[in-house]
Amino acid sequence: MTSRTASPAHKVKSAPPIRLGINIDHVATLRNARGGVHPDPLRAAEIAVQAGADNITAHLREDRRHIRDEDIARLTAAAFAPLNLEMAITEEMLAIARKARPHACCLVPERRQELTTEGGLDAASQVKTLKPFVGTLRDAGIQVALFIDPDPAQVEAARAVGADAVEFHTGTYCGAATAGNRAAQARELRRVVDAARLAAAAGLEVHAGHGLDYENVLPVAEIPEIVELNIGHHLVGEAVFVGLGDSVRRMKAIMQSARIGPAQPKAKA
Ligand code: PXP
Repeated sequence: MTSRTASPAHKVKSAPPIRLGINIDHVATLRNARGGVHPDPLRAAEIAVQAGADNITAHLREDRRHIRDEDIARLTAAAFAPLNLEMAITEEMLAIARKARPHACCLVPERRQELTTEGGLDAASQVKTLKPFVGTLRDAGIQVALFIDPDPAQVEAARAVGADAVEFHTGTYCGAATAGNRAAQARELRRVVDAARLAAAAGLEVHAGHGLDYENVLPVAEIPEIVELNIGHHLVGEAVFVGLGDSVRRMKAIMQSARIGPAQPKAKA
């Protein structure tokens, strides 16, 4: 459980609006459990956008365990909202992205055995590989983000390879929050705050995601440099209880309250 006191940032009224990218991977996980077509991730994307999501995020993993190639084709054709395609740094994914032309690509590390993306990309050790890869995507008119840990060396590498944006992995921060370790949570939040400042100063757009929920999202959304959060598992999980529209609406309201404060009662005339 996080609290406002864990946040080093206070509401900054001049901060730009913050976008919510709904990650629909786990709608596809549920669909694939039965091998059929229901529930359709496309329908989830449409409902989420109607409820206030600004982007659709989908991770086409090499093993296609959730999102599949045809989902990406259908999402780009439907164009409910800008598509953020998460993908590994492989020639296969590069070819798919160049064909699909999503609004943005977020480059992530991928390991076959992992349950989910376990850490940020080690961009600092792959500058030579990343530079042409990022360049090819950008030449195709696709914005490129690197999913990295909130670490100065990784931010510098993102700048050096010509990325447009970074997405900070918030998994360690969220894990500390879930464990109730307030000291670790505050320390991890501080890393995100500092890295966000550094990235923005380097001209990178700043996003964040992984493990965010209704409780731990507020201090992250309060960081004024962060303009996009990508959230999936919690929203899809909550949808089981309250419906996807309501879970998205509630998350968006919390994120917006971090920027502008909760709605104030109107002054009497
Ligand atoms: N951002 C990236 C790059 C991810 O890999 C994931 C998980 O697929 C998310 C955001 C969303 O994380 P979560 O499902 O924990 O909200």
